Amino acid sequence: MQTKCFTNSLEHLMRAIVACAFIAIPALAQTADQAWLKYRSIGKLLSVPMRVTALGQNPLERTAAMELERGLRSLSTLPNYEATPNVIVLGTAEEMRWRKRKSTVLTLQPDEFLISWNQMQLFRELDIIGGSDRGVLYGVFALLRNLAQGADMSYSNLRERPAMLIRWVDDWDNPDGSIERGYAGRSIFFEGGNVRQDLAPVAEYARLLASVGINGCNVNNVNAAPQLLDAEHLKQLARVAATMRPWGVRLAVSVDIASPQKIGGLATFDPADPAVKAWWAAKVNEIYTLIPDFAGFTVKADSEGQPGPSSFGRTPADAANTLAAALGPHNGVVLYRAFVYNHHADWRDPKADRARAAYDIFHPLDGKFAANVIVQTKEGPIDFQAREPVSPLFAGLTQTNQAMELQITQEYTGQQRHLVYLAPMWKQVLDFDMRVNGAATPVKQIIAGAAFHRGLGGMIGVAGVGRNAWLASPLALANLYAFGRLAWDPNLTPQQIAVEWTRQTISTDPAVVRTVAAMLMQSWPAYENYTGPLGMQTLTDITGSHYGPGIESSEKNGWGQWHKADHEGVGFDRSVATGSGYAGQYPPEVARTYESLATTPDELLLFFHHVPYTYKLHSGKTVIQHIYDSHYQGEAQAAQFVDEWATLKGHIDSNLYEDMRARLEYQAGHAIVWRDAIVQYFLKLSGIPDESGRAGHYPHRLEAEDARLTGYKIIEVTPWEDASGGKAVSCEGQPSCSAKWTYSGGEGRFNIAVQYFDLQGGIAKFTLTINGRPADSEASWNADATLPSTHPNGDNSTRHIIRGVTLKPGDAIRVVGTPDQTDPAAIDYIEMLPATSSP
Ligand code: GCU
Repeated sequence: MQTKCFTNSLEHLMRAIVACAFIAIPALAQTADQAWLKYRSIGKLLSVPMRVTALGQNPLERTAAMELERGLRSLSTLPNYEATPNVIVLGTAEEMRWRKRKSTVLTLQPDEFLISWNQMQLFRELDIIGGSDRGVLYGVFALLRNLAQGADMSYSNLRERPAMLIRWVDDWDNPDGSIERGYAGRSIFFEGGNVRQDLAPVAEYARLLASVGINGCNVNNVNAAPQLLDAEHLKQLARVAATMRPWGVRLAVSVDIASPQKIGGLATFDPADPAVKAWWAAKVNEIYTLIPDFAGFTVKADSEGQPGPSSFGRTPADAANTLAAALGPHNGVVLYRAFVYNHHADWRDPKADRARAAYDIFHPLDGKFAANVIVQTKEGPIDFQAREPVSPLFAGLTQTNQAMELQITQEYTGQQRHLVYLAPMWKQVLDFDMRVNGAATPVKQIIAGAAFHRGLGGMIGVAGVGRNAWLASPLALANLYAFGRLAWDPNLTPQQIAVEWTRQTISTDPAVVRTVAAMLMQSWPAYENYTGPLGMQTLTDITGSHYGPGIESSEKNGWGQWHKADHEGVGFDRSVATGSGYAGQYPPEVARTYESLATTPDELLLFFHHVPYTYKLHSGKTVIQHIYDSHYQGEAQAAQFVDEWATLKGHIDSNLYEDMRARLEYQAGHAIVWRDAIVQYFLKLSGIPDESGRAGHYPHRLEAEDARLTGYKIIEVTPWEDASGGKAVSCEGQPSCSAKWTYSGGEGRFNIAVQYFDLQGGIAKFTLTINGRPADSEASWNADATLPSTHPNGDNSTRHIIRGVTLKPGDAIRVVGTPDQTDPAAIDYIEMLPATSSP
């Protein structure tokens, strides 16, 4: 909703601000309140004045003033009443200088801000001064962030400036409204081939982004739809840009490098062709006529089937520079992605190595990119895996602007169904010391432009927000928050960020903050443990969903995510001496560390070396025992999250509590699927038993294929390791089927877990009975989750628990499954766990 609330005099402005704050914010279905901008009442008097004066008239300062009014009113326990004449004054450094008629006001960089108290004769004044209008907005958000956490700001001054100039999110949205690797519903930007009419969520998104200092948003898939550059779509995109503009978030778009041919009607898209250059120049002029503050283009070329300059014997620099020449006169930039590799590689060739690709292609081009080109490199050399080493390209481009691409959307890290707080992973990358020329060279300084004195640099987060509460899972929003905070200040710690986020989002109660922050901090190690430890990468279905376990899917195909597990050993030899030579792409000190088995850290051992299963880690364990132990440990950590969250009951919002409780219970069950898949796979492959006797032994488990079946058919699950014993039962062509077991263990109370497959395309029903009677109210349930795949496998293997069931020898346990459409109510097993233990 747009309202007219502009005014000429300051006094009127202030009244208008208050009025606008009330009427300009309609009841939105999707708001920043669902994230961290809740501004919950702090239960005490605010430590800053309630009265706000804005010196400037420009849109960003108006936004800043409105946000501050709104925040103060909401945080304060008192009505909008100011007992003292104290005031908060907002303005740019220039406005302040003019107002105070003195030159003592500091010179600030554009996005920098200073919050400082001034004692006047009769009152105190809190100035929020920005190097630019955007700096003012960032200052306001910084003040509100502190207040929302309960900080006493009555004597605090604050001065901050961002470490990096480019702080963007990329949203991989398609014009049809779907989102590449998005896990939170449909696009907030597009639907049915066009920009959506309702851009209210986009405004709220921009508000969220601005609150953590993000200044750019690329709104479309890197696998770009060329039609977005036609005249009609550009007009539509101008609406998006206008919606984000009041929050200082500039629009960027991904472009298909073949656009001059695909939509321009030219015979070629050769970047060196004069007609192609002219086409881009004209197109860019057209864009700037509509969007004067357009940020720039992102380019994925010669990658995963996308067209690229290699078709004409040209380099990425040639392509990037053609675009840069068009954008340069308007101060636009090109983010050229280094994610360029051959996805038809030969897995039999020990020298073939996808990890090498970015460095091999881009390092020789160092110094050849125009000043407004930034090479955008994923944080690791493969593709957002649970663990990778830092990309060596960061040290390999000393005369080129660089940005680091991270993934906020959890493509390979549990797709927001698993709690995985990624800030600790990102922080390791940012702090990693490349030792360029033997001196301290942390990645954060390279991408900030400081290490090699570059003019531009930054961080790009692939966000994947959708219409379902932004990222679907409430706790996943900590990743979006953390991305912005780290791009602003990479010296913050993940723990600090987790605490800040929790205080603003959930509660300032110290016990709650401790619990949530601890869960967040534990979540990546837990996920790595039960998916792919020791640098094996996420052992997921890499040719499909990227979600459940699929260990062999990465082998014997051209995609190059090989872990090379065989009967003797596992891992990819990337040493210079005997392997692909990838380790040699790092500066010498780092290269030496990874070249040698003795100095490679355990967590990356299998990324760099192929070793026998009996190889001893620095920890003293063998590789195979570590694989077993880490999976049991990771699964136990996931179970622990359920217990930890349970301690918050009654202390936090009840909807949030229930929402996350269900998610964490699901995760705990899926961690068991992961654990069992990997453990039974490596047990079979290596033939080496688990010292602790767990792998392959499930004393409490009764397999569905061993039950007395009525209607159900035994099926082989693919991949085999995704089902217990490789088999399940499926009810096909029957109205309902049943599996019956006779209990033969000791008498007692149990939590009965039913492991079933919740397939797409229907809502199957299940009922568990004991001696013909439903065990309790939880004993009937629907398979109504939205999980990947239309076949029973580790993507959709799901656990339902019926708690506190009394069993005695001879009891008949029966599960009745009722299929629905394409969901055949498939069952893997049931498991009876003593009711005292954590299921
Ligand atoms: C991954 C992802 C793709 C994406 C690609 C990219 O491979 O699965 O969906 O297009 O990265 O970053 O370009």
